[in-house]
Amino acid sequence: PTNVGILAMDIYFPSTCVTQEALEGHDGVSKGKYTVGLGQDCMSFCTEVEDVISMSLTVVTSLLEKYNIDPMQIGRLEVGSETVIDKSKSIKTFLMQVFEESGNTDIEGVDSTNACYGGTAALFNCVNWVESCSWDGRYGLVVCTDSAVYAEGPARPTGGAAAIAMLVGPHAPIYFESKLRGSHMSHAYDFYKPNLASEYPVVDGKLSQTCYLMALDSCYSLFCEKFERLEGRPFSISDSDYFVFHSPYNKLVQKSFGRLYFNDFLRNPSFVDEVARETLAPYTSLSSDESYQSRDLEKANQQVAKHVYDVKVQPSTLIPKQVGNMYTASLYAAFASLLHYKNSSLVGNRVVMFSYGSGLTATMFSFRFQEIQHPFNLSNIVTVMNVSEKLKQRLELPPEKFVETLKIMEHRYGAKDFVTGKNCSYLPPGTFYLTKVDSMYRRYYSKK
Ligand code: ACO
Repeated sequence: PTNVGILAMDIYFPSTCVTQEALEGHDGVSKGKYTVGLGQDCMSFCTEVEDVISMSLTVVTSLLEKYNIDPMQIGRLEVGSETVIDKSKSIKTFLMQVFEESGNTDIEGVDSTNACYGGTAALFNCVNWVESCSWDGRYGLVVCTDSAVYAEGPARPTGGAAAIAMLVGPHAPIYFESKLRGSHMSHAYDFYKPNLASEYPVVDGKLSQTCYLMALDSCYSLFCEKFERLEGRPFSISDSDYFVFHSPYNKLVQKSFGRLYFNDFLRNPSFVDEVARETLAPYTSLSSDESYQSRDLEKANQQVAKHVYDVKVQPSTLIPKQVGNMYTASLYAAFASLLHYKNSSLVGNRVVMFSYGSGLTATMFSFRFQEIQHPFNLSNIVTVMNVSEKLKQRLELPPEKFVETLKIMEHRYGAKDFVTGKNCSYLPPGTFYLTKVDSMYRRYYSKK
């Protein structure tokens, strides 16, 4: 099979949200800290009737319906998530309800977990399956689903929630350049979830930023090396039309692109413009450790890269700024934003993707775009995802309601024997929701 990649996509995020501006006021932090300092506009969150299982049921049924895919045509289903509801039973098995109804129980794949990287691992598994001898000609389906919630404190505004489904197969409008992959994996305690009684992570915020940027440098260097070996000439930022990053909050994306620009400058000063060369010259003598600590360098990078950022990165920032960190879905929601803005003008373009999961695992890889017939053409994918409408139809709740919801969820986490609130009038038609958890911890869902 050739040009294996993403044939179709859909995205779901809870319609309940809180604005970052209101949250700044509520938390009593200085004005602009979340909106300018972190670069975030709004944050979606699950109320007590939604979770990673309901969101993935919603997005999977929606994708099958909107692209008119027969459930029998799915041969592999992989889920990426770091939101643990059950330590043994995979989220994938909950999704089997959708396929069993049609008589399809012959579907390989389970869940992949490592912080925000699980979605990428799931996607690679599906792509590798389609490219392998065990492929049976059917589609792969990847689901990234997460609800990101933090304990009270500076990390809380970097939450979010969403689920994304991606159909994988050959002759895709969005296909992998399989030979171009650079990974960096190592042992770190930057963000982890050792407390099994709580949904909240333990997070060393500053360390997680540094780990992210170190992994980015390492992956970029490998990516460039592989490109050069393949193409016989060096890679630089000018060789890709767009760059899409895992987006915990927008400021880190700005810093990351600045960092790639600095890498290009160090690799060959002629890769950057005259002004950038002058601005960055004082930093060439920094050791790599020093370079991660220098706030002056960070600011200089962002400033000299800004005009390129506006063209090559900005179009992918919409959903992450509006919905927040969606963990495994974050990178693909950023990618969905790019599709939303650029649509079929992407045909022939290249996009470089950077996936990061704390702990840590990271890969840089690339996609190319081609024209394909309906329903798998780029403009149909954009129509199906309907991002503007979904953002517009959200229900903005006051911060007090957000905090109250998190309190309820703290009690509900790992609990049994309860029914959820009856009021889910705000859920759009087609949305799955949790109705009860019985005395055996069995979870029941309905469809609105
Ligand atoms: N106006 C404008 N900017 C402001 C204001 C203000 N009033 N107040 C602060 N800022 C800026 C700061 O200067 C800083 O910007 P800079 O980094 O460009 O200098 C930014 O706001 C953040 O403020 P800090 O005080 O540096 O950080 P804070 O203690 O608020 O924590 C952090 C931020 C570390 C990101 C925290 O939210 C966190 O731990 N989040 C979770 C971890 C995370 O997402 N890590 C990313 C990779 S791992 C993953 O994906 C989970």
